[in-house]
Amino acid sequence: MSEIFLEELPGVGPATAEKLKEAGFNTIEAVAVASPAELANTAEIGESTASKIINAARQSADIGGFETGEMVLERRKLVGKLLTGCVEFDEMMGGGIESQAITEMYGEFGSGKTQIAHQLAVNVQLPKEQGGLGGSVIMIDTENTFRPERIKQMVEGLSERKGVDYDYEEFLKNIHVARAYNSNHQILLVDSASELANELKDTDKPVRLLIVDSLTAHFRAEYVGRGTLADRQQKLNKHLHGIQRFGDLYNAVVIVTNQVMSKPDAFFGDPTKPIGGHIVGHTSTFRLYLRKSKGDKRIIRLVDSPNLPDGEAIISVTTGGLVDQ
Ligand code: GTP
Ligand code: MG
Repeated sequence: MSEIFLEELPGVGPATAEKLKEAGFNTIEAVAVASPAELANTAEIGESTASKIINAARQSADIGGFETGEMVLERRKLVGKLLTGCVEFDEMMGGGIESQAITEMYGEFGSGKTQIAHQLAVNVQLPKEQGGLGGSVIMIDTENTFRPERIKQMVEGLSERKGVDYDYEEFLKNIHVARAYNSNHQILLVDSASELANELKDTDKPVRLLIVDSLTAHFRAEYVGRGTLADRQQKLNKHLHGIQRFGDLYNAVVIVTNQVMSKPDAFFGDPTKPIGGHIVGHTSTFRLYLRKSKGDKRIIRLVDSPNLPDGEAIISVTTGGLVDQ
């Protein structure tokens, strides 16, 4: 990412730069992918000024406009694949969970969403040769379900399986967790996540995984009743775009979790439908539907992907982490 300061863009004085930073636009790249209206609102400037700033940012960040297929291929070469450590699951994902994309996991309580999130928070820290991305993790925890004890158990399990003596304390150091107390706070935390990722980008543990667990719980609890649905979807949509932008800018894997409607909201509601409906569905690149099976077994179905066939994988959730069934 470029080392140029926001103040160096034409039309951006120190006061505007400060406002942009407060709103989470702390890099040229973040400004470059913003919409004029978004920037105008946050920095209290006119839309035409905002457009000029965005264009200048696009030029200096070298993004925006059309890309040739060759360029897309070049960018796609940077896409990292994070292994879950379960053979069927990794194969179903085409060799791991991709960075620069949102992967949504939805399923009922106890289906394993949070467990998989914990396991990925461990695996992503491993070097590439071992299936990780050599990076650190940011976790936005909305339900207070992050458990350092589980990380310890999973690191111990991994040590046993790989025959390497990993130190769980080193792993815990690279997991940055923030509780989100309500949906607005949750949205703001994506900005804080960008700040942190920016700080860590040139270290030996750049952020390579963003987890939002649960994406939808606060929204569901706060926006009740039919009249609020449009508002909820609009906010969720904006939130998801902020999350997607994070994944693109930092070449990070993005995992969001989502419950299904166990008590159908509408009379004819499908009890296996994820919350957030088509907004979440259209913005996430990969959708995984998790179901409980016998004992510790969990069935994971890939239901939506731009380049992979739909499929099913079975894993076991054990004390030492996720393993093949
Ligand atoms: P909600 O957040 O409630 O929607 O569910 P979830 O999909 O996030 O479920 P989660 O990933 O928390 O799965 C919980 C299940 O994982 C438990 O019911 C156990 O079956 C399993 N599990 C959790 N911790 C352990 C553990 O330490 N050992 C073993 N063997 N299993 C565990
Ligand atoms: Mg959970």
